[in-house]
Amino acid sequence: MSTEPHAGAERATPRTSPDHPAQGPAPRFTAVGDGGFDHGGVSRFNAWFFDAFDGYINHIARPHKQAAFAGLQGPTVLELGAGVGANLDYLPAGTRLIAVEPSLRMHARLREKAATADVEVTLLSQGAEALPLDDASVDEVICSLVLCTVGDPTRVLAEVHRVLRPGGRFRFVEHVAAPTWSPRRWLQRVIRRPWAWLFEGCTLDRDTAAAVRAAGFAEVQIEQRRFRHSAFVPVNTTIWGVATR
Ligand SMILES: C[S@@+](CC[C@H](N)C(=O)[O-])C[C@H]1O[C@@H](n2cnc3c(N)ncnc32)[C@H](O)[C@@H]1O
Repeated sequence: MSTEPHAGAERATPRTSPDHPAQGPAPRFTAVGDGGFDHGGVSRFNAWFFDAFDGYINHIARPHKQAAFAGLQGPTVLELGAGVGANLDYLPAGTRLIAVEPSLRMHARLREKAATADVEVTLLSQGAEALPLDDASVDEVICSLVLCTVGDPTRVLAEVHRVLRPGGRFRFVEHVAAPTWSPRRWLQRVIRRPWAWLFEGCTLDRDTAAAVRAAGFAEVQIEQRRFRHSAFVPVNTTIWGVATR
């Protein structure tokens, strides 16, 4: 993968105005627009869970993330479902991150973590099904453990394709459906409803690899590999991949 700077997308500017317009130097964290959700106790639980297990999840997912995010340059990176900032450490210094995170309960932790990273963050609270960004306006799109949870993965992938510049990359790490007749797939079927309730829509048996392949990218690389020593058995059929626009 080239390390040369590219011509670059036009700087992506969300089509909504900042809550706190800039005065003097650019703010390092700006929340833009409105929207988002708060399911009360369940959303609080999820914000706590992804914060408390951030180190562990990053440990078991590290080989996947290192492979998927290798050579990531930006400078403008869109992250879908940024959560509490699980992927900030993978961004090069100086990245302009557009973080899409509709769970309002995640925002305070994301802001806190972003303050320790050398990135400039614009936070959008709406879902990734309709992004307020211009066509071909971002260099890279990343996500981890998000396409399982979005309401409409086909629409999200169409938005990713639309906002990426030609040659830009979509890099992802996801858990997916286990093979049809495997014990893990049986488990995924049995617990899918309570799991989706607890993890705010997380669907255990999605065929995300097929959805990415069908999304119109020029080139798609996908590898299936388990997370190492994961205690989260139902979600340990995992993929990482890079799709090029
Ligand atoms: C399982 S968590 C993963 C969070 C983070 N990416 C990580 O790796 O820890 C899924 C995230 O997707 C977010 N999400 C849910 N629906 C979404 C949507 N329609 N668009 C974008 N993000 C969404 C959730 O709020 C949550 O933060």
